[in-house]
Amino acid sequence: MEQKINFNAGPAALPPEVLHEASIAVKKYKKTGLSILELPHRGKEFLEIMEESKTLVKELCGLDDSYEILWLHGGGRMQFCMIPMNFLSEQSSAGYIDSGHWSAEALEYATHYGDVQILATSKESKYSHLPEWPSSIPKQLAYLHFTTNNTICGTQRHHIPKTNVPLIADMSSDIFSGKHDFTKYAMFYAAAQKNLGIAGVALAVIRKDMLENIARPLPPMLDYKQQVKENSILNTANVFGVYVSLLMLRWIKARGIDAIEKENKQKADLLYHALDNSVIFKPHVTEKAHRSLMNVCFSANTEEDEKTFLALCEKNNITGIEGHRSVGGFRASLYNAVRLEDVMRLAQLISPNA
Ligand SMILES: Cc1ncc(COP(=O)(O)O)c(C=O)c1O
Repeated sequence: MEQKINFNAGPAALPPEVLHEASIAVKKYKKTGLSILELPHRGKEFLEIMEESKTLVKELCGLDDSYEILWLHGGGRMQFCMIPMNFLSEQSSAGYIDSGHWSAEALEYATHYGDVQILATSKESKYSHLPEWPSSIPKQLAYLHFTTNNTICGTQRHHIPKTNVPLIADMSSDIFSGKHDFTKYAMFYAAAQKNLGIAGVALAVIRKDMLENIARPLPPMLDYKQQVKENSILNTANVFGVYVSLLMLRWIKARGIDAIEKENKQKADLLYHALDNSVIFKPHVTEKAHRSLMNVCFSANTEEDEKTFLALCEKNNITGIEGHRSVGGFRASLYNAVRLEDVMRLAQLISPNA
């Protein structure tokens, strides 16, 4: 069967080179005589995978040794739990910017651990635009949490101001999609299954001074300090997941962030141009400065048009184009591994004359 054009939001398209390398490793990992799926998590080979992946994250992010790099179980949502567990106490408050489904979920999780202040929200408009960055941020906040790219509603914050409190970013759906100043953050994290590998593993990068602020005694698995101490191998690590993330990091380095950013802009421009010029479809996000380069969300005028378009996509070997179940319509996820020519094909189907 022909390889599908994959616009899924996550698990998402992976580069063919990465899939190829991963499949070789599943059969035999280097000269170990074992599959990567059989590789001991405390053995020399996995420790090398860990070291290289951490070095590459630092290099790609332009970070020095003042940051710790962790590969943790539990995807993005586990970070929604661990962040307030570690950094919020019953005596302190955390600020959250409520810009979409995932930031709302992150802040709801935090309410179980301390006081949460919603400093900005666009909930009233069903998150169709970004809320303004708060003009004043209370100095005593333990941290300010926000989401760089809102995967479900298709908005992305392209300019991130410096703040006077520790800034924590959920970068699950746009990490390494373009140049970024990571030194602004006290912490950032990403579930891997979009631009960074496969589901189940999350990258968490934490500035070392934050580890001194851990608010409460925690079971070791949920304690960032313990995870740092044990090099993310406190229990049986997700060996294959971390290995695929390493392959992704090597692929990102080989392509170069500048080239990746340029192509991501081209892909998104193509699709928004087709949508802006269509009489059948309309983009959900009308404020151009708020549009996501990663997740392009749109609808058709009528249900009939939607059905016709879905059938057309299927005929053209396109999959994963349906919008999130909470929003409906369509969503094309244009992560790094999605090829320009595939986006051209989709744009042509949306607006043949654009
Ligand atoms: C921005 C963002 N944060 C968090 C998550 C949750 O990730 P997970 O499903 O790994 O818990 C997602 C999932 O799509 C996401 O897009």
